[in-house]
Amino acid sequence: MTAPFLEAAALKGLHLLDAETAHRMTVLALKTGLVPARRAKPDPRLSQAFWDLTFPNPLGMAAGFDKNGEVPDALLRLGFGSTEIGSVTPRPQEGNPRPRVFRLPADEGVINRYGFNNEGHAAVRRRLDARKRLSGIVGVNVGANKDADDRIADYVAGINAFADIASYFTVNISSPNTPGLRDLQARSALADLLTGVISARDACTHELGRHVPVLLKIAPDVAEEDLKDIVEEVLLKNVDGLIVSNTTITRDGLSGAGPADEAGGLSGRPLFRRSTIVLAKARKLAGPDLPIIGVGGIDSAETAWVKITAGADLLQLYSALVFKGTGLVDEILSGLSARLDQHGLSTLREARDANVEAWASETA
Ligand SMILES: Cc1cc2nc3c(=O)[nH]c(=O)nc-3n(C[C@H](O)[C@H](O)[C@H](O)COP(=O)(O)O)c2cc1C
Repeated sequence: MTAPFLEAAALKGLHLLDAETAHRMTVLALKTGLVPARRAKPDPRLSQAFWDLTFPNPLGMAAGFDKNGEVPDALLRLGFGSTEIGSVTPRPQEGNPRPRVFRLPADEGVINRYGFNNEGHAAVRRRLDARKRLSGIVGVNVGANKDADDRIADYVAGINAFADIASYFTVNISSPNTPGLRDLQARSALADLLTGVISARDACTHELGRHVPVLLKIAPDVAEEDLKDIVEEVLLKNVDGLIVSNTTITRDGLSGAGPADEAGGLSGRPLFRRSTIVLAKARKLAGPDLPIIGVGGIDSAETAWVKITAGADLLQLYSALVFKGTGLVDEILSGLSARLDQHGLSTLREARDANVEAWASETA
């Protein structure tokens, strides 16, 4: 039996289970080495350096899959150029009651309202300590506990807990499943948050002699005026990059089949258009130098390429793995190499922004 055949059979089996159990089984399979590693030779043209990190390829595993840092190395072995742990909060928390994640197979979308279920800083820290000597880019996505008295203090605690071990940080203020969290995207709250986080990071830089980049992850549902404020604050506070985007609370682009009216954030194919428009608008506002990670609905080499031409330096995905399996990583990376050949380009940077104007002129 060929690996793709086995993978198709495994995916079918997983889809007989509820989405959360299927996710848990996939993490366990990765833990036990049951998922085949990528065998293709890396293409050096896909490698890029940002900050002091060299990404072997642009495709990263998005936050939310490996919330507790159980399988970063297995994910890197699949071919991802980086992986992001979390979101992790200072104290462990259960998240919302089950069921809290739903597949929309007809639309290849996912709705989740997990609500930051995670084992907390100390447990995740122990796992990262255990892989300390291994290489690979492993970012830590930090969040705030639902019942935090001071949310900014929770983010700062995340920086202090992982600064010596995280390849980079993502400050996630865009999950729709923690009430009030996205209010931190409003200008004055954001200014306070970024001041706190960046000064904590700078103190760590001073102590460790190493600059850990801090990226801000935003929602695809921000109004244009708010996006302008966010990007201005990001530039003003010297935040190192943006991640565009988290899941949407809209239900755009759904056929209506499946559990479309469940509460939560929508991701996957129906998110592609909205998140790509916001990405292009963010790129125009930020200018050419700010690194931006494009996320939302990438499910093929073509959609990955479109994100790059709409302004992304790096990419992440999650939901498409649910429908296409882990072979998708290889398919996307080979497809990006093929597109470089087709267009006669030698780096992804040369392709970036080719369609920014067109995407930025769309209305989400
Ligand atoms: C089940 C699930 C859980 C998620 N959990 C998190 C999370 O804890 N923190 C976060 O920043 N993003 C989380 N996300 C958002 C993803 O990282 C990503 O931004 C979003 O799903 C869009 O990408 P996609 O369309 O490729 O899935 C989650 C997404 C899904 C589907």
